[in-house]
Amino acid sequence: MHASKRLSYIGVSPTMKVSAKAKKMKSEGIEVIDLSVGEPDFPTPGNIKEAAKHAIDDNRTKYTINVGLPELREAIANKLKRDNNLDYSISEIVVSSGAKQSLFNTILSMIYVGDELIIPAPYWVSYPHMVSIAQGETVTINTEEENGFRVTPEQLESAVSPFTKGILICNPSNPTGSAYSKKELEELIEVLDGKEIYIIADEIYEKLVYDDYKFVSIASFSEKIKRKTVVINGVSKAYSMTGWRIGFAAGPEEIIGGINKIQSHSTSNASSISQYAAIEAFNGPQEDVEKMRVEFQKRRNFIYDALTSIPNITCYKPNGAFYLFPNISSYLGKSYGKYKINNSVDLAMYLLESAEVAAVPGSAFGSEGFIRVSFATSLQNLELAFKRIQEALMQLS
Ligand SMILES: Cc1ncc(COP(=O)(O)O)c(C=O)c1O
Repeated sequence: MHASKRLSYIGVSPTMKVSAKAKKMKSEGIEVIDLSVGEPDFPTPGNIKEAAKHAIDDNRTKYTINVGLPELREAIANKLKRDNNLDYSISEIVVSSGAKQSLFNTILSMIYVGDELIIPAPYWVSYPHMVSIAQGETVTINTEEENGFRVTPEQLESAVSPFTKGILICNPSNPTGSAYSKKELEELIEVLDGKEIYIIADEIYEKLVYDDYKFVSIASFSEKIKRKTVVINGVSKAYSMTGWRIGFAAGPEEIIGGINKIQSHSTSNASSISQYAAIEAFNGPQEDVEKMRVEFQKRRNFIYDALTSIPNITCYKPNGAFYLFPNISSYLGKSYGKYKINNSVDLAMYLLESAEVAAVPGSAFGSEGFIRVSFATSLQNLELAFKRIQEALMQLS
């Protein structure tokens, strides 16, 4: 018997080895400090939990319409107006089971055999695999640490081909925390002017930005840009609701219609209870988001200063998300005892086994010579993790 040939298009994550080992160590009682996490470590705010409890008690526990409750899409439309100065009607919005499903359905609605989607690297692990499942081609732009991991207009120009169907911009970025200024986005838009190229704007980290950085949605530049952009966002990161599984896409009719179609034959509506909770997240008080952001900024400052004090480590100082992406390339080729560090997977494995700190190898994000360190954990854990990482790196020669 053979499974589907489609499976051969989908790669197995190179991080599996590291995460499987981390899990095993934890199950053996070893206190691994986990800096590989992709979710806020704060509880979901109380008012949101209350809204979900009311939904259960009021028996609002049945199917909703496929695209999501009108009240939720209204709340999302208001959010897009309030935060991003974007005017969407509720018919231009689809709610899915997490932003990941929104992205997946968007890519399936946009990309088919022969189509190319431009994806800047380092990229979020799942993007290229989604393109492969859609039977399209990923065209990677390798961004540079020196440019703050941002695509330059020249790089974009040379990546565009007659087969380009779209570009995916994750802003702020997972894994680098890099975020584009208004001017940088304008320069990229200029390259796309007059071309029939969609923009997928993954803005899930929009609310987690630092210092004086001001987030601007790429869709908000003009009506023309808005018509070719699909905005992806959700409640997972801003409201610490990763387990509730609510994301959304807002965009042009043909793509939103496609998402609706695909979703109607796969998962149908997102959880009704989570949808009611998400209404409260968007419409209710926003103070908890700010509290979380301030805490993340403190942690970022600490771990950035700490890691860049280690000899030969350079790091882009992130203005968004909750990750650092330090350059560890000067430690490649070194060894300690049985450990020989040839690549970022080896380094992540070494840090896990000898320092009991879990991080994600850069190769998972398409960039060798880096690791991703999440600061979605307490300052106390970050302090301890730093000491352990420093000691382990100093042992390498
Ligand atoms: C860049 C990016 N986009 C989308 C998602 C998916 O978010 P959700 O939990 O809403 O599916 C994540 C989650 O890690 C992410 O990092």
